[in-house]
Amino acid sequence: MTVDLAGLRTALVTGASSGIGRALAEALAARGHDLVLVARDRTRLEALAERVRQQHAVGVEVLVADLTDPDGVARVGTRLTQTERPVDLVVNNAGDTVDASLGDVDVERLRRHVALNLGAVLTLTRTALPAMVARGRGAVVNVASVDVFVCKAGPAAVYSAGKVWVTVLTESLAQELRGTGVHAMALCPGLTDTEFSERNEVGETAPRRLGARSWSPADMADACLGDLARGRVVSVPGVRFRVTATLGRLVPYRPLGVLPTLARRRRSGLAGVDSRRALITSADSDLGGAVVRALLAAGTEVVLVGRTEDRMARLVESLGSAEQQAVEVVVADLAEPSDREDVCRRLRDQDRPVDLVVLGVERPSSSTSFSGTPLDVLQSELQAGPMAALEVLRAALSAMSAGGGGRIVTLPDAAGLDPGQSPTDAFLLSLTRSLGIGVLGSKVDVVAVIPPRSGALSRHSRREITGATRSGSLVVAPPRVALFDLACRVVPRAVRRRLATLIRR
Ligand SMILES: NC(=O)c1ccc[n+]([C@@H]2O[C@H](COP(=O)([O-])OP(=O)(O)OC[C@H]3O[C@@H](n4cnc5c(N)ncnc54)[C@H](OP(=O)(O)O)[C@@H]3O)[C@@H](O)[C@H]2O)c1
Repeated sequence: MTVDLAGLRTALVTGASSGIGRALAEALAARGHDLVLVARDRTRLEALAERVRQQHAVGVEVLVADLTDPDGVARVGTRLTQTERPVDLVVNNAGDTVDASLGDVDVERLRRHVALNLGAVLTLTRTALPAMVARGRGAVVNVASVDVFVCKAGPAAVYSAGKVWVTVLTESLAQELRGTGVHAMALCPGLTDTEFSERNEVGETAPRRLGARSWSPADMADACLGDLARGRVVSVPGVRFRVTATLGRLVPYRPLGVLPTLARRRRSGLAGVDSRRALITSADSDLGGAVVRALLAAGTEVVLVGRTEDRMARLVESLGSAEQQAVEVVVADLAEPSDREDVCRRLRDQDRPVDLVVLGVERPSSSTSFSGTPLDVLQSELQAGPMAALEVLRAALSAMSAGGGGRIVTLPDAAGLDPGQSPTDAFLLSLTRSLGIGVLGSKVDVVAVIPPRSGALSRHSRREITGATRSGSLVVAPPRVALFDLACRVVPRAVRRRLATLIRR
């Protein structure tokens, strides 16, 4: 579907006070669109508003809002639902990054980062959509990054996993919106000359240090609008970055597992060490319960974390009395910050150290569409998924690094391998892969195990999970899933859909 940009009268741009957002606002004004400019810096926004009003004779509103603050997001949401001068184009561009690796980052900064880079995108997109669909016209551009196609260690691991989530959410939204007259596009810029590194105190990026040419924000904005008009779902401006993206998408997850295996051969660290005490999240799910039993059978003590007290109690009752002695229960709803803090506190308890964390995340229970799911449910899924994963992994990494080391196993669903299918699982896969490479050579391992289907656990995948707690490669997946992973990269989407149905049987 091509997008008739001329039909989109008013555009709202977040992060319009600087960089790519400011350039997009200028490019839109030059094409005759009225604007709503959003950011925190009133002086800059008003200066920009004054300039574009004079140069292009368009209507410009300034909306000062901090998008890490729920009140700020709500005020922008109110503007999006206004029927007078309705917003036809939303550009979710405002973004920042964290300044340290996950194990060392300040938790408040991490929460603000997720609120801005994921939370505000989710809320503003969901708020804008119903009116756009009712009018039969509109577009949402979510600014991600070319980093989603490459594996980044260090502070960029958190940033790029968040951008993966944004990209996959946008791809899935674009599928859902087909035929409504509303379009969704993820813009994945490569290195662009803005204030981003300076503001976020991240220093020079590797490409910049190597002298790579960066894009001007104005060229990036023009390329973005060109791709939007063409109806692209994922826009990667520039041949160099498109090559990076294509190569990045071609590399399956599994072969990267060779790296830690090789690294482990060089040291007598964790290989072969069985876990003494494991903490398992989503222990009240079928998958979690199966992991618990497998670990107890291998002589590991387990800390069960789950939010359904009854299911946890039933699981404990079903165990033998000796096994019950080896079980500790933490009832926690990971969508709740205070409950997440309880789990993190337990992980930091060095008197009863945990040397294995098995992180399963909760997924939406229904297959309802994004537009059909209430906003508070989507927000809660974001908290129970990516936010919980980040906070639990952060606590585990820092406790294990300060203590005797350990292993972290995440359990993403195979759907995360397929672009446009599951933002949470794609997030978890990306984060695990980056963290796994970042911790190479340290006393902590990070491994992803992809079961064939969450909820149903074959004997084979149970072996994979318990096996990963001992030997582990970076991404462990049963052969069928590994094949699906490869197919996601080389086989067209329609054929993949059929394959996915087959492997999930
Ligand atoms: N530059 C690159 O190489 C590059 C590459 C890939 C992707 N990106 C992405 O492009 C987007 C724009 O980045 P940029 O490079 O243009 O960076 P930038 O020059 O630092 O601009 C960031 C914008 O976001 C706004 N912002 C930051 N925190 C905010 C908050 N809490 N509430 C509201 N607005 C906030 C800032 O305005 P105020 O400070 O006035 O609030 C500013 O307008 C980001 O999503 C970034 O991840 C950039």
